[in-house]
Amino acid sequence: MTSPQTLTLGNTDIRIPPLGIGTWAWGDRFFWNYGREYTADDIRAAFIAAVEEGITFFDTAEVYGLGRSEQFLQEMLAQTETPIVIATKFFPLPWRVRKTAIRRALRYSLKRLGLASVDLYQIHFPWPPRSTDFWVRALGELVEEGLVRAAGVSNYTAEQMHRAHAILQTRGIPLASNQVHYSLLHRKPERDGTLNACQELGITLIAYSPLEMGLLTGKYTPENPPGGVRSRRYSRAYLERIRPLIGLLREIGQGHSGKTPAQVALNWVICKGAVPIPGAKNARQAVSNAGALGWRLTDNEVQALDDASDKI
Ligand SMILES: NC(=O)c1ccc[n+]([C@@H]2O[C@H](COP(=O)([O-])OP(=O)(O)OC[C@H]3O[C@@H](n4cnc5c(N)ncnc54)[C@H](OP(=O)(O)O)[C@@H]3O)[C@@H](O)[C@H]2O)c1
Repeated sequence: MTSPQTLTLGNTDIRIPPLGIGTWAWGDRFFWNYGREYTADDIRAAFIAAVEEGITFFDTAEVYGLGRSEQFLQEMLAQTETPIVIATKFFPLPWRVRKTAIRRALRYSLKRLGLASVDLYQIHFPWPPRSTDFWVRALGELVEEGLVRAAGVSNYTAEQMHRAHAILQTRGIPLASNQVHYSLLHRKPERDGTLNACQELGITLIAYSPLEMGLLTGKYTPENPPGGVRSRRYSRAYLERIRPLIGLLREIGQGHSGKTPAQVALNWVICKGAVPIPGAKNARQAVSNAGALGWRLTDNEVQALDDASDKI
């Protein structure tokens, strides 16, 4: 087993590897085709392979696979001695308007995970009808009660994150993380100030969809587009437009003893100071994504990738 150097999650005492594993696909039939393209055994193998590579940080949510993702994690946690950091999320559904809703949701998540407390609990979206302030205060109470080790948010703008940080700070609780969409094909966090605000406030930016749902692996082309929901999201014309960037990822990877486009794309996220959580449906993908660690792109390579992504 190799052990990547760990880093601190925000200003907490929680240590995580520089890359985690996203588990949205674990049990999700609608978007990711669980049960047809990959099975429960593939997921178990992905977990074991990730942990063997020292990837001990897993991101889930109550909504992933309608709870199946959390249940997979319970099963897998029972089979390892290795300390694992688990992040899950509260989904502010429109009918969840009372403070008790987050407590109840957490209780169900903990039950599915088989845990007494969770390392990181994130508010999934800054959605109405309740204000972000309302849910952040409620989250702070869960931290004070010891049910949650660290407080996080997701899909929050820089401004919403500043407010969440300030609210928690009055109770002496750090805002540990903001999980947002960030990849070479989605650089909004760089442009809207979220990445800068994270760095300024000591908040970890957790980058979701860092492979742009598989596109940055280079395996999808106009001739071989992804199926299912992704076929509506990413047109053939878009796949054509990203070809030069994929070519550059491949070329740069060759200069780093044959790193794959996916590994280079994940390393780019790490070089930007964020923690990518690529999804892995099987052991091969988990091992491959762990190969983004233990080396680093040069500043010139990061710049060249920035330039290529700017042209898309
Ligand atoms: N907070 C939020 O609102 C939010 C939203 C989205 C995601 N997330 C989190 O972020 C995680 C990752 O995002 P994501 O799953 O949307 O996208 P992603 O990590 O960019 O892409 C994951 C997909 O790419 C393919 N893949 C991954 N590694 C590969 C490899 N080494 N070689 C070839 N193919 C590979 C797999 O799908 P195929 O094999 O089918 O191509 C996999 O399911 C999620 O699991 C979830 O935990 C959070």
